[in-house]
Amino acid sequence: MNIIGIDIGGSGIKGAPVDLGAGRLLTERHKLLTPQPATPAAVAAAAAGLAREFPPAIRYGVAVPAVVKDGVAHTAANIDPEWVGCDIGRLFAVALGAPVTVLNDADAAGLAEMRFGAGRDEAGTVVMLTFGTGIGSALFLDGRLVPNTEFGHMEVNGAEAEHRAAAQLRKSQGLSWDKWAARVSEVLVALENLVWPDLFIVGGGVSRKADKFMPLLECRTRVVPAALGNDAGIVGAALAVAGD
Ligand code: BGC
Repeated sequence: MNIIGIDIGGSGIKGAPVDLGAGRLLTERHKLLTPQPATPAAVAAAAAGLAREFPPAIRYGVAVPAVVKDGVAHTAANIDPEWVGCDIGRLFAVALGAPVTVLNDADAAGLAEMRFGAGRDEAGTVVMLTFGTGIGSALFLDGRLVPNTEFGHMEVNGAEAEHRAAAQLRKSQGLSWDKWAARVSEVLVALENLVWPDLFIVGGGVSRKADKFMPLLECRTRVVPAALGNDAGIVGAALAVAGD
């Protein structure tokens, strides 16, 4: 099956055809800047432009930074408010000219990590967190996704978790690795007190620099860095198509 995964983020849109058996990209991915304002129509048109870089797919998986139920977005924390209530599945199917499966971006990354990466063969309760523009979350019980958790909006020390510990804040607020890791630890502890996971997987672009902050994290639960890096969202979006 020729399936293309597309991962939509606050700053970039990336995609590639995916080898579903191996959990790898079949060719090098393409990346575009997310159009601003990032309205659904503008992003769908950009995604269609990106898809034209590859031979046409028979289906597309699209990961978006929003709660998604039956193809409809219900939140828009780090993207244009027009996404709320938009039937993303239908809009993108028209733009891409093929059926589309839409899911939350962290859920997509989590699916890929559980199948091919840091969560492989991990039973019990696993929480994947993605640190980027915001904080995304994916919750798994014995490998099965509980979709649309939004742990990044949990209150920690009087503020939303993603307003304290998103990876982008490390740069914009000039935080040292120590300071940022302490904030991430607070989020992990708040979450482990509520969910008691068996494993945390820390993902997002920052997982490439795992050696800088993983040793600094402090919580009860075992914590491992994501293994698929920035490709996890693309691979997971394509996996979601296969599971549809
Ligand atoms: C959104 C989530 C998303 C996360 C990462 C949060 O602000 O509410 O749906 O998964 O950012 O993009």
